[in-house]
Amino acid sequence: MNAPSVQPLIDPFARAISYLRVSVTDRCDFRCVYCMAEQMTFLPKAELLTLEELDRLCSAFVRLGVQKLRITGGEPLVRKGIMQFFRAMRRHLDTGALRELTLTTNGSQLARHAEELAACGVRRINVSLDTLDPDRFARVTRWGRLPQVMEGIAAAKAAGMKIKINTVALKGFNEDEVFTLAEWCAAEGHTLTFIEVMPMGDLGGEDRIGQYWSLRDVRARLAERYTLTDLDERTGGPARYVRLEETGQKLGFITPLSHNFCESCNRVRLTCTGELFMCLGQEDKADLRAALRSGGDDSALEQAIRGAIARKPKGHDFDYSRQKVEGQVSRHMSHTGG
Ligand code: GTP
Ligand code: 5AD
Ligand code: SF4
Repeated sequence: MNAPSVQPLIDPFARAISYLRVSVTDRCDFRCVYCMAEQMTFLPKAELLTLEELDRLCSAFVRLGVQKLRITGGEPLVRKGIMQFFRAMRRHLDTGALRELTLTTNGSQLARHAEELAACGVRRINVSLDTLDPDRFARVTRWGRLPQVMEGIAAAKAAGMKIKINTVALKGFNEDEVFTLAEWCAAEGHTLTFIEVMPMGDLGGEDRIGQYWSLRDVRARLAERYTLTDLDERTGGPARYVRLEETGQKLGFITPLSHNFCESCNRVRLTCTGELFMCLGQEDKADLRAALRSGGDDSALEQAIRGAIARKPKGHDFDYSRQKVEGQVSRHMSHTGG
């Protein structure tokens, strides 16, 4: 059955919004040093959108033309009942309205959930992994254990899902692991994506500029050993991909600092309390929870969504180039879900 045609979501810079990232919880079982402070105050449960409200909101976005839904957090798989939500979203894949249902996870709970995620139509997942060294892993995640994540990744692979490993490039931390990570991913058949560290959240005493490792340098290092061919291929996310000719594997770079990609932005972010952030790097937001709870019907909700998209800014203002952090936003990455 064809849905009646609706006006797609187009922002003031003529970008079509087809990708919604939904943070379903601000909680996480890790405390990655660039993402959270060790002592975090989390939101009281009553603040969170219920699973039914999340369903209603996501379904409204799908009606308005969103084709890619990425579930994030915090750690999405620590949200109670989250599999019920994945099961419910499957219906949008079945109708063809949604092209991709996926998640970004730290992998800690994957061993338990991989099979069911695959059964819900999740074909591809992104797993955050900054090092293959157990001691380093414990240091960077503070609370994480590498073997648990490795088990999770193996379970996801066994369930037939494609895996993309997200590695934040951190100076003085994983500089010597570029090749080890690339080789491991090649052997396992995973895509590897490097990310530049962004100034999100005041973590107290952290040194963003000292941590920052430009992906231009990572690329140059890889080129010492491999032939890199640029690919046109896109996943609808911000990564640019290359192929390493010697191994045939695909490798991605997410470069918000060294190469801004805002002009092709196609996404907005929903937090677990129903705030819609039109840009990861800006403070403006729209309160969709109020629209949800006002007692109005879906057309009022759709109007609130359209009103928010009409305010989407041109891009972020992150900048380290003057040897100081500029454009920093105060909320943590876990609030907006990366
Ligand atoms: P794919 O569907 O695999 O392309 O995923 P993705 O790259 O869109 O999502 P993922 O959750 O793996 O994000 C990887 C990194 O890219 C995270 O650190 C995000 O914060 C960052 N990222 C994603 N979207 C944006 C964006 O719009 N702006 C900026 N500055 N960073 C982004
Ligand atoms: N800069 C860049 N990436 C970050 N992530 C979390 N915090 C930051 C940051 N400050 C990454 C995680 C995960 C993704 C959702 O965001 O490692 O892969
Ligand atoms: Fe889009 Fe903002 Fe990210 Fe730029 S920083 S790509 S505008 S979300």
